[in-house]
Amino acid sequence: MFYEQVNQSAQYILAQTQLRPGIAIILGSGLGALVEAMEERVVIPYADIPNFPQSTVEGHAGNLVIGRIGSETVAAMQGRFHYYEGFDMRQVAYPVYVMKLLGVERLIVTNACGGINRSFTPGDLMLIEDHINLLGRNSLIGPNDERFGPRFPDMSEAYALPQRQRALAAADKLGITLQRGVYALFSGPCFETAAEIRAYAALGADAVGMSTVPEVTAANYLGMQVLGLSCITNMATGIAEKKHEHAEVLRVASESSAKLCALVRQLILDWHAES
Ligand code: HPA
Repeated sequence: MFYEQVNQSAQYILAQTQLRPGIAIILGSGLGALVEAMEERVVIPYADIPNFPQSTVEGHAGNLVIGRIGSETVAAMQGRFHYYEGFDMRQVAYPVYVMKLLGVERLIVTNACGGINRSFTPGDLMLIEDHINLLGRNSLIGPNDERFGPRFPDMSEAYALPQRQRALAAADKLGITLQRGVYALFSGPCFETAAEIRAYAALGADAVGMSTVPEVTAANYLGMQVLGLSCITNMATGIAEKKHEHAEVLRVASESSAKLCALVRQLILDWHAES
């Protein structure tokens, strides 16, 4: 039943365009501008896609945009789904299943998050090296369908090493500072307490956010290569002296989005040159 639902979503999308994406990009809060760099783009509102969840958060437009970057065809999600919106974890990851049936083999995930590592500064980009799921809920819970992937998928390289190395090289080429670290998932929608941030720091987290992990888990299960890029929009609670506001998260994310777009574009061009 789940497979058929996903397939229905995918078939609708395939009927809207001749383009066949090999790469998907999930654009986090305030990071939607990348689609402007896409050529021949087709915009498909989530509301038109059968069985697709609908975004509810400010800064998340709610469109699937398919187009070209260089000679690579990409599908960009302008807006994602979060557990704190009331979706279950499988729904949060739903678009990744759809991407798989579109033929996508590589997933780039982006997000806005809080910095825990004191060497970070708001506005920095961070390459996600690994993650910690602090939610205790997994997007793969439920009956397994072997057409998608195995019951017990491996997560030892959740963020593919070759893609990480390429991202570091691309950042270097562009003169963009790329921090590296471990992303911890917190449920939200409130920001964390200072004691929680101290606990996560002790657990080895460099950054904290409310997304990404459910989709990356599903992408690994589906056999995709994943690259994760975070924008550190603020220092986490207790590290910064000031109170958090979503408007500030959006402001810093959109200021950094030019850097992020340049990096993603370069990566896609490099991938294409290598393949
Ligand atoms: N915590 C959790 N999620 C976030 C933060 C934060 O400080 N900033 C942006 N997303």
